[in-house]
Amino acid sequence: GNNKAQGARGLRFTPVAPNTADAVTVPEGYRQNVVVRWGEPILRGAPAFDPENQTAAAQAGQFGYNVDFLALLPLKGERGRQVLVANHEYTDEILMFRDYDSENPTREQVEIAWAAHGLAAVVVEEDKKSGKLTPVTRHHLNRRLTVTSEFRLTGPVAGSDLVKTSADPTGRKVLGTLNNCAGGTTPWGTTLHAEENFNQYFANGSSATDKRYGVGTGASGRKWERFDQRFDLAREPNEVHRFGYVVELDPYDPDSTPRKRTALGRFKHEAATVRLTHDGRPVIYSGDDERFDYIYKFVGSKRMRHGNSRAAREHNLTLLDEGTLYVAKLTGDSPALEIDGTGKLPKDGEFDGSGQWIPLATATARGAVSHVEGMTAEEVFVFTRLAGDKVGATKMDRPEDVEPNPVTGKVYVALTNNSHRGVGSNPKADEANPRNANKHGHILELTERWNRPESTKFAWSLFLVAGDPQDPATYFAGFPKDSVSPISCPDNVAFDDHGNLWISTDGAALGSHDGLFGVATRGERRGELKQFLTVPRGAETCGPIIQDRRVLVAVQHPGEVDGASVDNPGSTWPDGPGTYVRPSVVAVWRADGQDIGV
Ligand code: FEO
Ligand code: CA
Ligand code: CA
Ligand code: CA
Repeated sequence: GNNKAQGARGLRFTPVAPNTADAVTVPEGYRQNVVVRWGEPILRGAPAFDPENQTAAAQAGQFGYNVDFLALLPLKGERGRQVLVANHEYTDEILMFRDYDSENPTREQVEIAWAAHGLAAVVVEEDKKSGKLTPVTRHHLNRRLTVTSEFRLTGPVAGSDLVKTSADPTGRKVLGTLNNCAGGTTPWGTTLHAEENFNQYFANGSSATDKRYGVGTGASGRKWERFDQRFDLAREPNEVHRFGYVVELDPYDPDSTPRKRTALGRFKHEAATVRLTHDGRPVIYSGDDERFDYIYKFVGSKRMRHGNSRAAREHNLTLLDEGTLYVAKLTGDSPALEIDGTGKLPKDGEFDGSGQWIPLATATARGAVSHVEGMTAEEVFVFTRLAGDKVGATKMDRPEDVEPNPVTGKVYVALTNNSHRGVGSNPKADEANPRNANKHGHILELTERWNRPESTKFAWSLFLVAGDPQDPATYFAGFPKDSVSPISCPDNVAFDDHGNLWISTDGAALGSHDGLFGVATRGERRGELKQFLTVPRGAETCGPIIQDRRVLVAVQHPGEVDGASVDNPGSTWPDGPGTYVRPSVVAVWRADGQDIGV
């Protein structure tokens, strides 16, 4: 069995070998089950999944498509149950609809896609005997939020002229959330959902800010603008300013309206993870996933209240509306000529240096103040990327998930890849992004001064430079490379209670499928990276959640390969040939019921 497997505590399992199986492959001695699939009914009255006769009304009561972020929250008084919260980042129409014509989608197809985006809350229950985790359908906390659900804008941008539209002259009420990628769970019992590539849903962008956010000038890929004019920026130029925020959801209150927290800025938010200051104020870390974009943090000015009283809960739901938004600038400590873009270590043996959090704007109850010359506070919070440009923030290799280690306080940033680094007139390699045409990505370790999350100065080093360990340009925190797993394109990250970092990948460029890896961040095994699972063809690995006895991952976009269709899917997971490929959530546990990796 796996009991004898070597490794740091929490990582004692036999690594899964890289492979291209159309399956979820787990270590020897571990078991798995599909917790919930795209299309499974979760709300009262929702019909069973019938993909040949799907309707928008059915989809709105069923689990949505492509899950990225996952959270599991405790559920008091219901033994063996937890609340699973999921982001439905986007839809793969070619795998959802037979004979889909991307030039001429039907209204029904578009409305189904609206209902398959958004968020889901679904109570899940553990079967003690089998170890399986299964949904509790029709639980009163189960919920779907879609592209047509109501959301509220709060914080410094709420009510601003920049977010008023003909349908919403108040600038406070938004329909829908789009492209929620990773996220976070707050210590006050809410979940955060980061709106990422919202640009792709809008047509006919024309402003300089649309361009900076990657909004196209013509028709959108999904043609939603034909069915709701708010997606046509020639008609509603401000609608796009209402997306690109961090959404806060209270999963314990199924009647609550989720809020878009504008004080955290507007960009392609990849994640939103929380650490508290010593006096109880929230600090939220977030990356902007674009080549040459930035790392941000928000430092709240109000203290969290403990306890579950109504007053405490209402107070805590205002924490993310007041505080200061910062962007990161990183400086290397080695001479620039030692960073030649090949990934060779500089003479001091490490890619490392110092950093600074540059304030962009502060939101208070009385109004907001800009710290950026030539931009108002409202402009900073809506056009945050431009503020980062102005203050000279460091252009990174696609910041994905950012996550503080709950054991040490150190913050880890997944920089997934950047094929454009050093190409043409683009910025060249620097110490924090040391490879030109960076195919495999790297992970940054950031230490806030005095280990205080509100510090404006920090130290940093590269924890991991990904790739095939035989490639001399890779680095695993100095651990001997003959016994680590190959890894490429780190994306979502999570921690277990031992302080081990778990990394899921998206777009691995080493010829094998994406997967989930664990690596020790402390002690003599620091840097020993081990692969825990692999996912089916075409999929990325998302989630992940590492509990004592269970690992959860979302298998996102299985079958998404060139030329795929319903009749010729790139994958037949999870239900086999002749079925629709279905993005799903998977649970993994030890057959003997012991804790993961001990
Ligand atoms: Fe949705 Fe940056 O991944
Ligand atoms: Ca150095
Ligand atoms: Ca991601
Ligand atoms: Ca991704």
